[in-house]
Amino acid sequence: MSGKYRSLAALLLLPLLLASCIRLPSDGGDETGEGNGGDKKPPSYHENMTYQYQTEVDEDVLMTDLSAAYLVLANKSSPVGEDYTPEDLVALSSAVIASWHQATGLLLDACAAAALYEMLDEMRAAGVTDICVTSAYRSYARQQQLYETYLARELATISEDAYRALGYSYIKTNYLDAGKSKLSYADAARVVLSYSAYPGTSEHQTGLCVDFITDEMGGELTEAFEESAAFAWLSKNAYKFGFILRYPKGKEGVTGYTYEPWHYRFVGREAATDIYCSGLTLEQYLEK
Ligand code: DAL
Ligand code: ZN
Repeated sequence: MSGKYRSLAALLLLPLLLASCIRLPSDGGDETGEGNGGDKKPPSYHENMTYQYQTEVDEDVLMTDLSAAYLVLANKSSPVGEDYTPEDLVALSSAVIASWHQATGLLLDACAAAALYEMLDEMRAAGVTDICVTSAYRSYARQQQLYETYLARELATISEDAYRALGYSYIKTNYLDAGKSKLSYADAARVVLSYSAYPGTSEHQTGLCVDFITDEMGGELTEAFEESAAFAWLSKNAYKFGFILRYPKGKEGVTGYTYEPWHYRFVGREAATDIYCSGLTLEQYLEK
């Protein structure tokens, strides 16, 4: 059987395989939808697997991305802890990582990496080429370094992030009117924790998420990613490859973090489809 027909057969068999081992959205799932994405029509699994470009779908990825392991929750109230290290990390291809990581490389869970390659192939085939990965797996120690760097920054000056996280009137009353130009340690920590995880609580420590960046952004992760062709494509297609936008706009109260248009989390195709169609966050999806 040629690769093309083997892939076609795999696609046709997929609904049967899925029906026997997973909960489909129609098996009591919320088809009415909730939240931002509630008006989206849930695609069937078959539609979900229709690619414009890929003729070879990786069957190993198809089968293994149903694992509950890809639904691990890492957040402020569900830390993974200092000792957590994912089992199956692989080095990401240099073709997909940012130039400043070429020397040291980036690691990601093997199944998430396979799905990422498929997704980026498909994106490039659709004409979107300005995208690469700037962050993937981060160890506890690396997260600690980042946390300390950000804390030092927030202690040094009252940043735009501080105004966003604490609010202008709070800063005016407690700092500007009082003639203080630097945040207290507690307030600086509050600001940092609005955009960066405390060591042991970062999803990056699971090896299941990536931060994307474009050349156009000049190496800095900002909300400008939202204006990119890559973001527009990801918003419509990432779930087909098992990825979700993890920290959506308007869900800060649920996720605990400010909007991050660049941060995509691998959860597997079934969960990603449910989450995309329902508009739920991973926290809300896991609570159901
Ligand atoms: N920026 C995300 C929340 C992290 O630090 O894991
Ligand atoms: Zn991230």
